[in-house]
Amino acid sequence: MRMVDLIQKKKNGQVLLQQEIDYIVRGYTNGDIPDYQISALLMAIYFKGMNKKEIADLTMAYVNSGDKVDLSGIAGIKVDKHSTGGVGDKVSLIVLPLVACANIPVAKMSGRGLGHTGGTIDKLEAISGFNIELSREQFIANVNQYKMAIVGQSANLTPADKKIYALRDVTGTVDSIPLIASSVMSKKIASGADAIVLDVKVGSGAFVKTIYEARELADTMVGIGNSLNRRTIAVITDMSQPLGYEIGNANEVKEAIAVLKGNGASDITHVSLTIAAYMTVLGGAFLDFETAYKELKAIIESGQAIDKFKQLVEIQGGNPQVIDNPTLLPQAHNHYRIKAGKSGFVNAIAAEKIGISAMLLGAGRKTKEDKIDYSAGITLIKKVGDKVKAGDTLCVLNTNLADCREAEIVAHSAYTIRDVEPEQIIYIYDVIR
Ligand code: URA
Repeated sequence: MRMVDLIQKKKNGQVLLQQEIDYIVRGYTNGDIPDYQISALLMAIYFKGMNKKEIADLTMAYVNSGDKVDLSGIAGIKVDKHSTGGVGDKVSLIVLPLVACANIPVAKMSGRGLGHTGGTIDKLEAISGFNIELSREQFIANVNQYKMAIVGQSANLTPADKKIYALRDVTGTVDSIPLIASSVMSKKIASGADAIVLDVKVGSGAFVKTIYEARELADTMVGIGNSLNRRTIAVITDMSQPLGYEIGNANEVKEAIAVLKGNGASDITHVSLTIAAYMTVLGGAFLDFETAYKELKAIIESGQAIDKFKQLVEIQGGNPQVIDNPTLLPQAHNHYRIKAGKSGFVNAIAAEKIGISAMLLGAGRKTKEDKIDYSAGITLIKKVGDKVKAGDTLCVLNTNLADCREAEIVAHSAYTIRDVEPEQIIYIYDVIR
């Protein structure tokens, strides 16, 4: 087999066979095929697409490139969730204890943030002492005993996806539906869950910008999951503005605590309850979505959900006092207010720009090696639909940097203020089963 022939084949819109996909993924992972040939192939896939069989074959080639997690030592239906990535997305922090309260085991592996999006593992590490490196035995034991545990993704989980994702990032081929679908699903399949709820983000801050593309991505991923015997549901949720009011690691833990105490903003609360409800239905705790949603809401109101989060923090070595006193989370020294230049209504908050601004403040990494500042972040004061007067504070930047001019400019440019009131934002657009 010659790589150049396979590039030509895809360039001409033909279908790649399973053995050809295996050859490509194996060859690239072990260093036999160079970056420039995979780059050309990725661009051909970007323009010509892949059929369902090719996407499933690519997914399995990624899965087979590394370790597969065996969760058979955990009793019950193991349910996982995955978000395609957004800004202010602290849903995993909320659903993990919430679903565990319904007695459904969640054995969660999460990643770190890169670029403008955050990562659940970084957020939890904002809690002093929180340990995301449990042994396999401890991980399984915690899920059996407490119904929940979370660890960082093992270095050897889908290494082919890791290598190809890094190349996609620098070759303009991230936003391809077959490539996103196989990348996301390979990690979920390799992580060993029996059932998966996908949070497909759509809007300015997401990889897919239109509902049409989001449906296609959701359909593709649900198809892969079900064809590999994983019960899969995709929920299409809004990312046309950041989710909730807090962006940044400690900030997002603080907001997750508020949601679990029943004091969260309506968007983050509704999205979290919706994802958690589908997880518990797939796990067999409730018969239908409506019952699950109502019961989970009651679990929050009763105080069980926040107690469960406190238990998670405690068993993984973190300081549980942050739950009662979130001011114990890292705090930035400097606070800069971004003010409205004119009066009107907030019509849009470009989520990606807010994410970039937070990264510039120290909350995220430009490169994998960068250290993050857990206390850095942005608190939104105004959201889409809010009325503002010139001079009102739109958001507050929290940082330890003395000079954050660039972050200020980017955050200011994220807001669009117009005279007219915008249409109301829908939080959940669709559910694909
Ligand atoms: N998240 C992933 O894991 N992979 C992608 O390609 C996009 C989002």
